[in-house]
Order: sequence, then structure tokens, then C-alpha cells
Amino acid sequence: MLDFLEAELAEIGRLGLLREVAGVRPDLIDVASNDYLGYARDPVSRATLLECEAEPGAGASRLIFGTTAAHLDLETELADWVSLPSSLLFSSGYAANLGLIQAVCVPGDLVVSDGLNHASIIDGSRLSRAKVEIVPHREPAATERVLAAGGYRRAFVVTESYFSMDGDQADLAALREICDRYSAALFVDEAHALGVFGPQGAGLCRAAGIAPDALVGTLGKAVGAQGAFVAGSKSLTRWLWNRARSLVFSTGTSPLLARVTLGQVRRARGDDPARSRLAQAAVALRARLQAGGLRLAPESTGPIVPVLLGDNARALRVAEALGAAGFRAQAIRPPTVPAGGARVRITVSARLDDATLARLAECLIRACAE
Ligand SMILES: Cc1ncc(COP(=O)(O)O)c(C=O)c1O
Repeated sequence: MLDFLEAELAEIGRLGLLREVAGVRPDLIDVASNDYLGYARDPVSRATLLECEAEPGAGASRLIFGTTAAHLDLETELADWVSLPSSLLFSSGYAANLGLIQAVCVPGDLVVSDGLNHASIIDGSRLSRAKVEIVPHREPAATERVLAAGGYRRAFVVTESYFSMDGDQADLAALREICDRYSAALFVDEAHALGVFGPQGAGLCRAAGIAPDALVGTLGKAVGAQGAFVAGSKSLTRWLWNRARSLVFSTGTSPLLARVTLGQVRRARGDDPARSRLAQAAVALRARLQAGGLRLAPESTGPIVPVLLGDNARALRVAEALGAAGFRAQAIRPPTVPAGGARVRITVSARLDDATLARLAECLIRACAE
């Protein structure tokens, strides 16, 4: 019955868009993952595990019998981190965006979504059955035009703060001001900014001095663990507890993981030295690549360094050449980025030393010239 899948896979392959199922990751220098502070690969010590004294499984949905002190402690810490009254854990950032938007937005509402928002925001918006207006990337004026046109019950502006594929930042202060003027809510996904930007790594909302109506943070990127949270008012988290289907109908996250994550969050909050190192490494790499004539995504900044190549096959070739030189970099192709927008996305980690970054830049410049 499923024979047609082979033909479809062959067609995707012909377009240079096939992703093969990965085996165990090879022993290469990682410039592909989102482990910005370099925490994900640090083994958890035996002492920490014993100290956690936590159970491996929640055993049920958080609503049924799955809530433990480990979950509540982590939620308190996360809300404090981002300076919002309350937070609620989800099993992933995908589940958090899906649950948030599906639970809060309903038919008759308007979701104004940046053109480069993550798939989880797109899918959550679809699930909500609200009207969705996609606005050009990082153009607050376009958001304002859509809000001014009216014709909706309530409006929600949804954006990433630090865009995962382009490494540029939303103008959060402008969006907050526009939302306030039109009585719209502002939802900000800080997946790639948390731990990286802002005081104590609290993200770009804190850096911009604004409070979003809902903030999504992920724990699998700079925090180096797994899972995610939505933070906002107490009414928001109570509403999600009742209505976010990806939370209600899903087993609570592991209490053991929640304890380990709490340690990672505290470490991230206090780790200004790693954040400074990360910022400095990103600046140094960009300077080398630009001096070598490579085209980086315009206005990209920070640890996400997209090298624009355009052609799918070329992006694959450059990633392969880096692999041969000992680096694991990711070729990003449609549908993750628009057609013709293929790139190699380098992510810098605070762990990379100057000599490694210099070698990476050299290999990349050589591979792009071939
Ligand atoms: C902007 C953004 N939001 C949400 C997610 C999903 O987070 P998670 O990997 O925890 O599901 C990602 C990446 O995976 C992301 O880049």
C-alpha cells in the first residue's frame, strides 16, 4: 500500500531535498547544533544525579497525577528568569507553540505572523483556525497595516525574537508599541535567544525592556537539556493548563530531567563569561568570513551565522567539504528556507577556541570558492 513513498522519495532526491535518516553522530567538531553555551555535551555528574533524587517519569499528564515538586521548582525559576509572573513546562518548543496558539486563538481572531516564523508557530496558527496574515520578515510597519485594517475579534502578533535560520532579530520594542496601540497581544518565541542575549541570558524581550503577553522559551538549545515553557500572566498559564491540548493530552515531562534542567538554567543565568565568549567568537568568525568574500544573511548577528549559497546542491557540497575537514555544519534547504535560499548555517558555541574558528573560516572560504 505504501509503495508510492519510494517514488516520492526518489523525486525529493532528484530535487536535492532528501534528508537521509541519520546514524549516531560522527566525531566531528559541532558547528551545527544549538548548544550555544556548550552545556549539552557536559556529562551530568553522578553527584548531581544523586542530589536530584527525582523520579524518571511523571507517569501521567501533569493534570492527572503527573505534577511533582521538580516541575514546580523549575517553573518558578523560569518565570523568574524571564521576569514574568508565571510559567508552564511543555515537552518541546514545538509542543509549546502548538499548545499556546491553539489554546488562545480561535476562529474570528487574527494571527499576524512573521514570514520566517518557525514551523511550530505556523502549525499552531493553522490548528487554531484563526485567520492568519503572514507579514514580510521584520517589517513592523506591515504588522501595523494588517492590524489597522481591522475585521477581527482579537489580534495576536507572533514573532521569533532571534530568527533561527537568518540570525537576525525582531524589533520587539516597535512591535510592543504597535500591539499596545491596537490592543493586540504579542507572543514572542525566544527559542534561540534565551541564554544567549539579555541580562543573565534572559532573552531579547528583557534586553529590549518589553514584556510580551506570552513568551516561549526552549530548554534544548542554550540551556542544553530538553523541553520548553510558556511564560506570561497567571491567567495565561491557567488557561493553557485547561486548554493547551499538547499539554493536557501528553505525559508530563520527566521529573528527573526537570531537576537536571533547573541546574542548567541556574548555570546559564550566572554564566556571563560564556555569553561574552560566545559573542566575541561570533564577531570574530563573521569578520573572517566577510573578509574572505562570503555572503552572510543580511543583518545577521550573534551565534547563528548563515552563509548564503542559493543552490541546494552547492549548499550540500559545502557542508560535505566541511565534513571532510572535520566539521559538522548544516546545509539548510527548502522548505526550511524559501526556494533559492539554500545556505550553510554555522552555529557558534562558547566552546570553540580561536584556532578552531580560524580553521573553520579557512575551510569554509575554500569550500565556497570551489
Ligand atoms: C524558533 C523555534 N521555536 C521552536 C522550536 C522548537 O523547539 P524544540 O526543538 O524544543 O521542539 C525551534 C527549534 O527547534 C525553533 O527554532
